[in-house]
Amino acid sequence: MKWLQGKVIGQTEWHPGLFSIFIEAPPISFQAGQFVQLSLNSQEKHFRPYSLLNAPDDPVIEIYYTLVKQGLFTPALASLSTNSPIWVSAKASGRFVLDEVSQSNNLWCFATGTGLGPFLSILKTSEPWQRFKKIILVHSVRYHHELTHQSFIESWQEKYPEQFRWCGVVTREQVAHTLNNRIPMLLQTRELENTVACELSLQDAVMLCGNPSMVSDVTQILLQRGMRLNQAKEKGQITIESYWKNKIEVQKK
Ligand SMILES: Cc1cc2nc3c(=O)[nH]c(=O)nc-3n(C[C@H](O)[C@H](O)[C@H](O)COP(=O)(O)OP(=O)(O)OC[C@H]3O[C@@H](n4cnc5c(N)ncnc54)[C@H](O)[C@@H]3O)c2cc1C
Ligand SMILES: NC(=O)c1ccc[n+]([C@@H]2O[C@H](COP(=O)([O-])OP(=O)(O)OC[C@H]3O[C@@H](n4cnc5c(N)ncnc54)[C@H](OP(=O)(O)O)[C@@H]3O)[C@@H](O)[C@H]2O)c1
Repeated sequence: MKWLQGKVIGQTEWHPGLFSIFIEAPPISFQAGQFVQLSLNSQEKHFRPYSLLNAPDDPVIEIYYTLVKQGLFTPALASLSTNSPIWVSAKASGRFVLDEVSQSNNLWCFATGTGLGPFLSILKTSEPWQRFKKIILVHSVRYHHELTHQSFIESWQEKYPEQFRWCGVVTREQVAHTLNNRIPMLLQTRELENTVACELSLQDAVMLCGNPSMVSDVTQILLQRGMRLNQAKEKGQITIESYWKNKIEVQKK
């Protein structure tokens, strides 16, 4: 893998354990929704994939990440300070991009936790606003202070009041103006569609990112409703990105 040396220009700790790291590096060409590999040394011994939250034309890289205390990589990432060196893969990868999404009526974006990142990158470009009648962004977190990046959400609500719907989901506390059940349950009961005043139809596209069990549970529901997975070989309405493997999947192997 070819690496580019960059440097940390800042870290925001949104709340304990939830970070954005900002990196200055030689320009990388990518499509909104793609990910890069990060490494903390030039020998590329340990590296991990991370979605880019910044728009492709933004010179500063933003990665939105969670500290996994027992993890191999994130404790070291979180300890980096301004001017620390960091290595970024020269090539971005991934099919979680609008080029892979067929022309559709509305775009539904379902994120858990840091899975919000690629959606913000996509929504920072002009393409989704030109292509879709409505864009519904659903962000599920455990606690309300994890509903970050509100300034972007608010700016799109202001700019696209008819086209854009944001729905915050907080699963471990009751919070006003948010929904309080997991996304699959909100779909089963139609509470989500009622809240955003929009029906999820077979003419729509759905993108899912984050926790693999959310991705798989929501996919099952959408398959039952007649949607198909969007795969390299066969186009469908459901485009997915899982951030790690389910333990059950790992045990099966
Ligand atoms: C394509 C792709 C893009 C990714 N983009 C991001 C991103 O933008 N931001 C990000 O934080 N992570 C992202 N990840 C996950 C990331 O690569 C690391 O796995 C994660 O940061 C944990 O690294 P670690 O070495 O500290 O722990 P690991 O040893 O790699 O992970 C240990 C466990 O932590 C949990 N975990 C891993 N990632 C997350 C997460 N994001 N949120 C909550 N729990 C998690 C899982 O239970 C996992 O089994 C992405 C993964 C993939 C495959
Ligand atoms: N995010 C942070 O601020 C933060 C900070 C420090 C450390 N961490 C660590 O990171 C790990 C997980 O963090 P996280 O909260 O970002 O990710 P997460 O566990 O994936 O939770 C994010 C959201 O996804 C939901 N979810 C989980 N499984 C689902 C499913 N099958 N269907 C639908 N929704 C589902 C959760 O609901 P439920 O609440 O119902 O599970 C929650 O609303 C933990 O080890 C945590 O200690 C996180």
